[in-house]
Amino acid sequence: MSRTGAHRSGVFVSFEGIDGSGKSTQARALAETLRALGHDVTLTREPGGSTGAEEIRRLLVEGTPDRWSPETEILLFNAARRDHLEKTILPALEGGQIVITDRFADSTRIYQGAARASLRPLVDALHDLAIGVEPDLTFLIDMDPEQSLARGLARQSGEDRFEELGLAFQQRLRAGFLELARAEPERLHVIDGGRSQAQVSADIVAHMQTWLKARER
Ligand code: ADP
Ligand code: TYD
Repeated sequence: MSRTGAHRSGVFVSFEGIDGSGKSTQARALAETLRALGHDVTLTREPGGSTGAEEIRRLLVEGTPDRWSPETEILLFNAARRDHLEKTILPALEGGQIVITDRFADSTRIYQGAARASLRPLVDALHDLAIGVEPDLTFLIDMDPEQSLARGLARQSGEDRFEELGLAFQQRLRAGFLELARAEPERLHVIDGGRSQAQVSADIVAHMQTWLKARER
């Protein structure tokens, strides 16, 4: 399989965090702000973000929590991600755009790794083989799972296969994401998501602008 980490001139940004933490809301807000400032922006999401990956998304997010074995689930997320990369992310980066994705590989590391810790080596090996790309910058929206779970389940989207895993699981996810941020402080920027949308958004936009300025130097 060819490597996917070819030359790119754009900026790759991801949003991560537990379910209902405000990733979609904030990814959209950041995209709108950057567009208003004159940037060319592609806003996308996982699982999904390309025609094929959106088809795989339905297999992943609908149905009962035990629909897939953990191993099969990891393969499906990687299949979706590879298509998303090939069809959406890399073409936009090669065109010099800012790509903002609502979730990327950190979600697999944390969700599938948290479901069964012994699977983390499989997650990492598959990522290296099939994906091989990391975001330049990741916003980790951190918040209390009780608060975010109440937000998420209130949506009744029919896509609650993962959210139905419950509060204890969301707490493990939160801890896992924070550990990732401690391990990679250069890439992951932690944002306190337990505030108003406007406050969260102001922090994100400020950090993004500082980051873009530093990159120009
Ligand atoms: P995620 O993409 O992380 O699951 P969403 O952006 O979809 O989260 O937000 C989940 C729900 O919470 C939505 O109904 C959204 O309108 C609401 N929401 C998002 N951010 C905030 C916030 N800062 N305060 C209160 N509600 C919020
Ligand atoms: P998403 O639509 O982002 O859900 P939410 O808006 O509730 O945060 O993602 C759907 C579910 O898929 C979500 O519960 C997290 C899960 N997921 C994984 O388990 N592994 C992954 O690699 C990705 C991208 C998502």
